Amino acid sequence: MRVILFGATGMVGQGVLRECLLDPGVESVLAIGRSPTGQRHAKLREIQHGNFFDFSSIESQLTGYDACFFCLGVSSIGMSEERYRRLTYDITLAAATTLVKLNPGMVFIYVSGRSTDSTEEGRLMWARVKGKTENDLLKLPFKAAYMFRPAGIQPLHGIRSKTPWVQALYVGAAPMLSLLNRLAPQYMTTTEQVGRAMIKVARDGYRKPVLESDDINRL
Ligand SMILES: NC(=O)c1ccc[n+]([C@@H]2O[C@H](COP(=O)([O-])OP(=O)(O)OC[C@H]3O[C@@H](n4cnc5c(N)ncnc54)[C@H](OP(=O)(O)O)[C@@H]3O)[C@@H](O)[C@H]2O)c1
Repeated sequence: MRVILFGATGMVGQGVLRECLLDPGVESVLAIGRSPTGQRHAKLREIQHGNFFDFSSIESQLTGYDACFFCLGVSSIGMSEERYRRLTYDITLAAATTLVKLNPGMVFIYVSGRSTDSTEEGRLMWARVKGKTENDLLKLPFKAAYMFRPAGIQPLHGIRSKTPWVQALYVGAAPMLSLLNRLAPQYMTTTEQVGRAMIKVARDGYRKPVLESDDINRL
């Protein structure tokens, strides 16, 4: 499997990258980011790209891929709806519409989050925007698209969040997280479980397009 990864420098993306590099079924990973991952591996190639709203200048490098793991995302805290939509919906759909045109046989996996609002009409701004993003991704003619909706994600193997308050939260709560992962899998998964589940779903499919934390943990 040849994989394109967005968000490889972030907490979720670092976890997904780790599992891809370890999995013998993943032949290569192309990480597209605005900053380098700092990692070196025979299977890893990186493109530093300046404009995440337009991928036309790198299209020639984006063909021949089987899966895209889209782990790029921002927190909505302190952001206007317009700005959050721009960084969430616009970036994701710019990447997805480019990729589906170049790789119609691709499986696209998007990381949204627990409580994402598929009606697009609820009270929570972030949930509406992610709901619209999911809904429009599911309309694209990919071979298949899956929406991962994790709740909490415990970072393992030295992985850190790029978002300072998320990192502080996970460090503070670390002793509780493993316990929660075992006792309440609907609320907690790990970076390792997310990465492994993505690879499995891209390879074998899943019985439904939206996966919650306990689906991710069962895989
Ligand atoms: N962490 C959790 O517990 C959790 C739980 C549920 C859902 N999620 C969702 O998972 C996704 C990833 O979260 P995370 O925790 O991995 O976030 P993170 O650690 O803050 O990483 C964010 C990633 O997105 C990239 N990025 C952000 N803004 C960008 C922009 N304007 N242009 C290009 N790249 C940009 C960052 O690249 P740079 O390195 O260049 O900044 C980084 O790779 C988000 O959608 C989040 O809502 C996270």
